[in-house]
Amino acid sequence: MVSKRTQEILRVDAEKVVHGMYIVGRNQGIVMEKAHGIYVVDTEGKEYIDLSSQLICVNLGHRRQEIIDAVTKAMNEIDFVTTFFGMTNPYIVEVSEKLARLTPGDLNHFHYTSGGAEAVDSAVKLARFYWSRQGLAGKYKIISLYASYHGSAGISTNVTGLGRGLNQNPFGPVSSGFVHVAPPYSYRCMFGDVADCGQATLDYLEAVIQAEGPESIAAFIAEPIMGAAGVIEPPPGWWPRVAELCKQYDILLIIDEIMSGFARTGKMFACEHWDVQGDMMTMAKGIVNSALPFAAVALNDRIYDVLKDNHMAHGFTYSGHPIAAAASSAALDIYVRDKVVENAATVGNHIKQRLEAEFVPLPCVAYADGRGLFQALELVSNKKTREPIDLPTKDKLCQDLFDAGIFTRVIGWMGNRMFICPPCTITIEEADRALDIIKPLVAALKPK
Ligand SMILES: Cc1ncc(COP(=O)(O)O)c(C=O)c1O
Repeated sequence: MVSKRTQEILRVDAEKVVHGMYIVGRNQGIVMEKAHGIYVVDTEGKEYIDLSSQLICVNLGHRRQEIIDAVTKAMNEIDFVTTFFGMTNPYIVEVSEKLARLTPGDLNHFHYTSGGAEAVDSAVKLARFYWSRQGLAGKYKIISLYASYHGSAGISTNVTGLGRGLNQNPFGPVSSGFVHVAPPYSYRCMFGDVADCGQATLDYLEAVIQAEGPESIAAFIAEPIMGAAGVIEPPPGWWPRVAELCKQYDILLIIDEIMSGFARTGKMFACEHWDVQGDMMTMAKGIVNSALPFAAVALNDRIYDVLKDNHMAHGFTYSGHPIAAAASSAALDIYVRDKVVENAATVGNHIKQRLEAEFVPLPCVAYADGRGLFQALELVSNKKTREPIDLPTKDKLCQDLFDAGIFTRVIGWMGNRMFICPPCTITIEEADRALDIIKPLVAALKPK
């Protein structure tokens, strides 16, 4: 029985707060009030290990003092000034210099937004702007993957492929100019039982480029490892071939690192695993440890040089918000100072070994996917038929996880992939504790 205070908060919440990505008028029955390190704490004082870093976004662990201090200091100097009309502030300049040092290759220029979806919307608009400035406004189509998630704003909703229509259809017609192709999800290949799903998706991508006409395509956008789809990693040669195809057909490559960036996969950016660099790269979440809304799209020199000296009628009131920039600047320092990338790689390898040895043999675990602290288990009720665990089983598992003091999500393309994505600062001992808690719950799943 929860306290009167918690009950009252939940009652008002159900009436007044319309939650995203949930059933309107309902809530989970838990009120999170505090957070520290790898833990979130509810109004009953119960601690939960944050095994999904909330929305895979609190990469440095909760409530970092350095970020609190930076924000407090900045707020004592300034509240808000615009970056429109060529105005600037030291905070956004400082963070831009730091980002340029961390981002791969010549991704040296940054346009700022409040969230990931706005960054994706901006990247798509800038891709079209890039072509139109060269007299090629007919190059406007965007290719993305079914199973991708790129956000819920105007353009990003159209780019997103996940949800089998759920993310688009109830909200009115999808705009034209958005083309989706099959994702490299070999376990559930859209082409059925083919020998090499990755190759089949690449062949299909090339066929679609040819059929649509490369002269009509502005950009291809994808997540290095599909996150909201359930941490689905493509086969090894997939990304290098995608980059080749983009080059061959003169299509811009936008890499969406909103979830996979900032140490998450054991590299600063996941695209580094395949030595691939986009013409643009979208970033959010870990960029500011999610302490404030802050996101960016990075442009390489090629894009910047074409856009330079053009008036860009695009931007958001909070683009380059100085307080959020101060928070981001402090977060970026922590990644470097504390070697967070190396920690994510080391602890991630340890987790991977345990998942392979102790979880994959369990009756309802099909396989473990991902790397670093971006990993997931595919949960099935039958390993032969690959039938996903059903909804009641999943709901019970989620409740058992909450009861056991674990906050994570079981979502994805088929709604059956369990995130193992703790903060990238987690220690091996803490990771072991989390795995020891979830193991009996996953082991208790009954095959059909
Ligand atoms: C890869 C990717 N792109 C874009 C977004 C949208 O970001 P936001 O929710 O900040 O708008 C997300 C959010 O999870 C994401 O994972």
